[in-house]
Amino acid sequence: MTSASACGKVILFGEHAVVYGRPAIAVPVSQVRAEAVVEPLPDAGDILLEAPDLGRNCWLSEAGADDAIAHLVRLTLKELGISAHGLRITVRSGLPIGRGMGSGAAVSTAIVRALSRHFGAGWPAEKVSALVFEAEKLYHGTPSGIDNTVIAFEAPVYFIKGQPPALLSIGAPLPLLIADTGIFSSTREVVGAVREAHARAPERYEGLFDAIGELVNTARQKLHADDLPALGRLMDENHRLLQEIGVSCPELDALVHAAKGAGALGAKLSGAGRGGNMIALVTPERAAVVEQALRTAGAVRVIFTQVSSPSAEQSRYAVA
Ligand code: PMV
Repeated sequence: MTSASACGKVILFGEHAVVYGRPAIAVPVSQVRAEAVVEPLPDAGDILLEAPDLGRNCWLSEAGADDAIAHLVRLTLKELGISAHGLRITVRSGLPIGRGMGSGAAVSTAIVRALSRHFGAGWPAEKVSALVFEAEKLYHGTPSGIDNTVIAFEAPVYFIKGQPPALLSIGAPLPLLIADTGIFSSTREVVGAVREAHARAPERYEGLFDAIGELVNTARQKLHADDLPALGRLMDENHRLLQEIGVSCPELDALVHAAKGAGALGAKLSGAGRGGNMIALVTPERAAVVEQALRTAGAVRVIFTQVSSPSAEQSRYAVA
């Protein structure tokens, strides 16, 4: 039996604009994870895919072409150069679905890691990320690739679509609260709505994306310098720009307002928007007060995380 896990993520700056070639920054959330277990299933001529949390149980050979997990398993086996059968792959996830925390990419990453380890390959992060990106296309349509990158590397990333990822070093651990509106948000639908709005008013949207791109580059410097007040202000500004893009909603705005009112340094929606999660940058001293304010304002779940620099082992990748 071989098991592997993968973290969740949040986007710190730059969602949506990243789909249009601007940079974005995403960070791992290590305490919420997806897990995959690969074990022999003697005498079976097929591979059993089980996801008890999703009520899923099917044979690989019977899964349709639009089934992202099945597609990923087939691709991974092809890459491993084996036509495996007689296997059970079980997936469990502690990540909420449709909340911008990368649940699809986390499940996929756990599966690729577990399969590659099971067959003795132990692939590096960039290879895992590339395979997971293929499954992301089935989930999301036109993903930028940021989710698979930050989750496969499990480190803060400065990401530009189509370019190799740069892992970000962070001055000091970054205390974040992640609060869930409880509203399901389809990344594919929200990205599609932005695409239509962009087609109707290209100049306006290009201007908004440019403003976000500049803000991301400033944030990268402030992260490095550990300037939390400046980062907070940039988060507020990023949220305002996302409101203009049309991807916030009253529930997200209420949580952002509550976090700020309780002393957060900055707050913004995170991910596709129109539901899902928001994030608030806090000082460790204010974390409990802000968390309570978020719950009072309707958050169904609040996670506290501290984002750290890439590990020494990861430093062979370009550190920005
Ligand atoms: O999957 P989510 O909700 O984290 O959204 C991904 C971020 C977007 O920029 C909206 C889409 C993308 O592919 O980058």
